[in-house]
Amino acid sequence: MTHLSPNALGARAWNRLEALRQFTDEAGKITRLYLSPSHRQAVDATVLMMREAGCDHVHVDALGSVIGRYEGKGAGLPALLIGSHIDTVVDGGAYDGALGVIAGIGVVEALHEAGERLDFAVEILAFGDEENVRFASNLTSSRALAGTLDAAGLEAKDENGISIHRALLDFGCDPSEWASLKRDPSSVLGYVEMHIEQGPVLEAENLAVGVVTAINGASRWTLTVSGKAGHAGTVPMKLRHDALTAAAEMALAIERLGANDAHTVATVGRFQVEPGAVNVIPAKVRFTLDARSPDDAIRARMVEEIAAACKAIAARRGVELTIDRFFESKATPMAATFVTGLSDAVSRHQIAPRLLPSGAGHDAMAMAELCPAGMLFVRCKGGISHSPEEAMTAEDCDIAIEVLLDFVRSFRYRF
Ligand code: HGY
Ligand code: MN
Ligand code: MN
Repeated sequence: MTHLSPNALGARAWNRLEALRQFTDEAGKITRLYLSPSHRQAVDATVLMMREAGCDHVHVDALGSVIGRYEGKGAGLPALLIGSHIDTVVDGGAYDGALGVIAGIGVVEALHEAGERLDFAVEILAFGDEENVRFASNLTSSRALAGTLDAAGLEAKDENGISIHRALLDFGCDPSEWASLKRDPSSVLGYVEMHIEQGPVLEAENLAVGVVTAINGASRWTLTVSGKAGHAGTVPMKLRHDALTAAAEMALAIERLGANDAHTVATVGRFQVEPGAVNVIPAKVRFTLDARSPDDAIRARMVEEIAAACKAIAARRGVELTIDRFFESKATPMAATFVTGLSDAVSRHQIAPRLLPSGAGHDAMAMAELCPAGMLFVRCKGGISHSPEEAMTAEDCDIAIEVLLDFVRSFRYRF
């Protein structure tokens, strides 16, 4: 229940978030993976929302991102980009990603309704591959705009062997155009992303919003342990080469090494066992590593320790180990001008401008390679995210979009 007037930016955003959350591939959950049927529905709905908000041009690009452009005082002016992602994790929440896109739509709608044209254009970007859950990929759609994607990036396959390239064709896109998405830096003034904090700090300090200083770096691997299948009833324990118990020991080593430093984290998120029969000694286990730190040197040291520990366990247990290091992102500081600009906007709303790092990754990591980038965090309940319990309030949404609109109106640039 909200006390906002129906016309408030937060109330309108709330309705749009409720509309987006309906698009899922798993009834009763929010699962909207890149280039899935529900992603297509969300893309089509986002196109409509951007048009209704007053964007002058809206299109879906070659990698499935929705781009809405609201011109400035003249046509073709450089643009301030406002974006985030509309894909989700499996059984995720309604706000991770979607909030930043809907906030951009709210900003354009407010400008349009006021008949305001700024000294620059505003573009809203709805990326589709930020979670990298369906494909072992790496921020495909935002990296294409930043010019850091390579053709191999479209060959990543999902668990059914469908490549991003194939899925894009089925989605109605033309992947051969991917290289043309690279933006000319002179046409872009910067990128700002509004996102739920996905952590406990703002709630603990009773703050609706905060300003991100930097985004932690991350390494993501797929590790494959190949042992020897056998009859669970006849192979003596000491003669086994059990892929599961070897992988389990590796997972515990990862947990131990991830906890060595106060600011590092290491997670085994997916664990697939073959053949997965009750009476067969596991032959193969494929599992993932997600390792992060605000300091790249510390992360590099941690992941090398993890690799060494896993190799030693494999050797001792007589199993094979392969490691596919499919994702790497450096710790990404936000642009000082954006940290200051967002902090000033927060202060103008009588809120203490709390600066904080982001443990979660974002499209802003990719966009920071193209232009100055900044992020505005919004409080979420219990800091919970990547979960159906993810929650926030319409009131905080309203405050945050008002702050973002203030930031955009006060944005100045010098070329
Ligand atoms: O995993 C992350 O940090 C982001 O939510 N994709
Ligand atoms: Mn996100
Ligand atoms: Mn996420």
